[in-house]
Amino acid sequence: MKSNIGLIGLAVMGQNLVLNMESKGYRVSVYNRTKEVTEQFLGKRAKGKKIIATYSLEELVGSLEKPRKIVLMIKAGQPVDIVIKDLKPLLDKGDIIIDGGNSFFKDTIRRSGQLEEEGLFYLGVGISGGEEGALKGPSIMPGGNKEAWEQVKDILVDISAKVDGQIPCCDYVGPDGAGHYVKMTHNGIEYGDMQLISEAYYLMRELLGMSADQIQEVFKQWNEGELNSYLIEITAHILGKLDEETGLPLVDLILDRAGNKGTGKWTSQEALELGAVAPTIVDAVFARYLSAIKEERVEASKILKGPQPKFEGTASQIQDIIHDIGSALYASKICSYAQGFQLLDQASQTYNWNLKLGDIALLWREGCIIRAQFLNKIKEAYDRNPGLKNLMLDSYFKDVLERAQDGWRRVVSLAIQNGIPLSSFSSALAYYDGYRSENLSANMVQAQRDYFGAHTYQRIDKEGVFHTDWIDE
Ligand code: 6PG
Repeated sequence: MKSNIGLIGLAVMGQNLVLNMESKGYRVSVYNRTKEVTEQFLGKRAKGKKIIATYSLEELVGSLEKPRKIVLMIKAGQPVDIVIKDLKPLLDKGDIIIDGGNSFFKDTIRRSGQLEEEGLFYLGVGISGGEEGALKGPSIMPGGNKEAWEQVKDILVDISAKVDGQIPCCDYVGPDGAGHYVKMTHNGIEYGDMQLISEAYYLMRELLGMSADQIQEVFKQWNEGELNSYLIEITAHILGKLDEETGLPLVDLILDRAGNKGTGKWTSQEALELGAVAPTIVDAVFARYLSAIKEERVEASKILKGPQPKFEGTASQIQDIIHDIGSALYASKICSYAQGFQLLDQASQTYNWNLKLGDIALLWREGCIIRAQFLNKIKEAYDRNPGLKNLMLDSYFKDVLERAQDGWRRVVSLAIQNGIPLSSFSSALAYYDGYRSENLSANMVQAQRDYFGAHTYQRIDKEGVFHTDWIDE
């Protein structure tokens, strides 16, 4: 009996996707370059299930019903090209390769073009939600050939996360690299979310001197309100985790040096490429880079002096600041998402993808790392105005920002006065103030450019392009 679908790459994400597909009634063939991994998987987690082990690409291909559907869950980059090269001669026209890894969207555009010239189909599918999501229901962002999407739609919808147990967080996003682009942007927004949350935690620890369990209580409360989200929920959980050896809060023992696999960097590169204004997302990447130069920071801390954070206040004053931090976090989050969706909007126009921003928000409602009630508000905003230029201009978000800004400004000012680096909170506030400013300082930049480079400038009082000989002979 032929299998409905095949999967290559049995790291935990791949294994969990296989188990998810099998649990939905599909017969799945699997292949892994290291055969022991396949044997181990079949001997334990896949035992007794409709999961077929294969030990060569030929065997895998031969075990699949036509048109063949093969999911790649392998490391982004050259490994994908190598597997495609080995697979291609074994496939027939109409067969479909589904790349479920975090591939760079331009690689996906290249691969789908090359394969479709040879009569094969290629889908670049963003899959978000980590290992747990892969097993229980990820957010799935498929892009590529629409005919191929129709062939794999049922399987991907069946295994995806569902909103209210019914609306699938899986729908066709757009042609060629659109799916991987949306996933990349999800990760950029994720970086912003994670940085903003870490700054809220850091401020309560450094300025208010709160302990992990005191901060945990705050995050638990926040998770009951408008800040409800997976990342807020796991942050509360992290703050309650004690180290088995010392009994101390584990988070306090973790080295403050952040890693990254590159998806936030790609999002930032794309924002610069397209001229999309995404300072908070980019700042979150730089915040990781700054954290990574730990040794340098330790040395600099002995040389560069600044204020010692201190806050002496009553219990109610502390509660007021904590409320302000919550306002600042929600307002900054809105700015970060506004930046991410504006990038998607610009990419949609640049790459002719016709992205549906409201539908993308719904894809992220469950299953993915940035899943949150908040995404419903974004969907509603685009339902109210599909041509919305910027989320901040939507009536709901506009009101939230107006209500939050006093607390937001107090928090950023307090951090600055106490020498506490809240770069993402600050960049989000500067973005808000910059976006709503009719006049900025760029007239001085234009004057300088014309002074030393004769780059010309426009005027506010008459049409035309001008140059001035600034240096009086
Ligand atoms: C997801 C995650 C995932 C991401 C890891 C590592 O949506 O499931 O975003 O795709 O690759 O979280 O990301 P960084 O190492 O770049 O933080």
